[in-house]
Amino acid sequence: MKETLEKIKLQSIKDLESVQSRKELEELRIKYLGKKGELTQVLRGMGGLSPEERPVIGQLANEIRDYINEKIEETSYCLKRKELEIRLNSEFIDVTMPSKRKDLGNKHPLTKVQDEINQIFIGMGFTIVEGPEIEKSYYNFDALNHSKYHPARDMQDTFYFTEEILLRTQTSPMQVRTMERQKPPIRVLVPGKVYRRDEIDATHSPMFHQIEGLVVDKGITMANLKGTLDVFAKRLYGEDTKTRFRPHHFPFTEPSAEMDCTCSACMGAGCRVCKNEGWIEILGSGMVHPNVLRNCGIDPEKYSGFAFGMGLDRIALLKYEVDDLRLFFENDKRFLAQF
Ligand code: DAH
Repeated sequence: MKETLEKIKLQSIKDLESVQSRKELEELRIKYLGKKGELTQVLRGMGGLSPEERPVIGQLANEIRDYINEKIEETSYCLKRKELEIRLNSEFIDVTMPSKRKDLGNKHPLTKVQDEINQIFIGMGFTIVEGPEIEKSYYNFDALNHSKYHPARDMQDTFYFTEEILLRTQTSPMQVRTMERQKPPIRVLVPGKVYRRDEIDATHSPMFHQIEGLVVDKGITMANLKGTLDVFAKRLYGEDTKTRFRPHHFPFTEPSAEMDCTCSACMGAGCRVCKNEGWIEILGSGMVHPNVLRNCGIDPEKYSGFAFGMGLDRIALLKYEVDDLRLFFENDKRFLAQF
């Protein structure tokens, strides 16, 4: 039995020396140490030995098993290193190769201008809020002091679901919703989609975007309105921009005014963009009508406020000198990728 063990040891040394891969190594492990392995077989046969022989042979068998185990581990480590070396030599990275292109999107031009305007007003202490596009005619018209026969209420101008529910024609109803919810001081900016029954052409769309502003507090005057909107115009179009206010009429403000800015393309000299006027109309504004304050449970003897509303699409058209509104809504990537 002793000779058999010595033979196994010698044979295993030879075998392990010639191993080429980890697969072969595993096969050798099974050959010697597996359940049916050579060494295991010998150990099984130990039952037939005399009591004197048993510990001697047992010790020798254990030594050989430990030896083979150790050798296998050593060889495995060497093989792993060799494999890694081969991989590192055969694989390499060509840093001059062009990368795989991914189509990265960019912000829509309307979103970009909206973000810019939001930031200007956030800087002046306004909060951005949004409201429902499906609106009650009470908020869209009645509470905003529109008379029963105001032309904007006409079926030809407005999308109705029922007599009481419609697609909002302006963001102004959020003035009322805000004042109902919140007591002064109020400083909110309300961007959002609005809808009117307009035929689509280069300057009209049945869906477009407005931005509403509302400030209500004690002692708010027309000077606050002009100061705030003048700062806004300068931030948007540059410090040299001038503003002018023309009297106008809106049912929910009194007095009301439209604001023009000097054309940012020609700085007021007159050009194609401003149709040689030198000025561009930007927004409607005014002091919140006492009736509107009353409709919202705010005492007009104690509080006053100003409001304004502008068309985002128009501002973006002028800013980017785009001459057809439809381009903003057609989702042609060749157009949108330019911003
Ligand atoms: N809602 C008006 C429109 O759609 C725009 C407007 C004008 C809003 C004056 C205002 C304002 O808040 O004070 O024509």
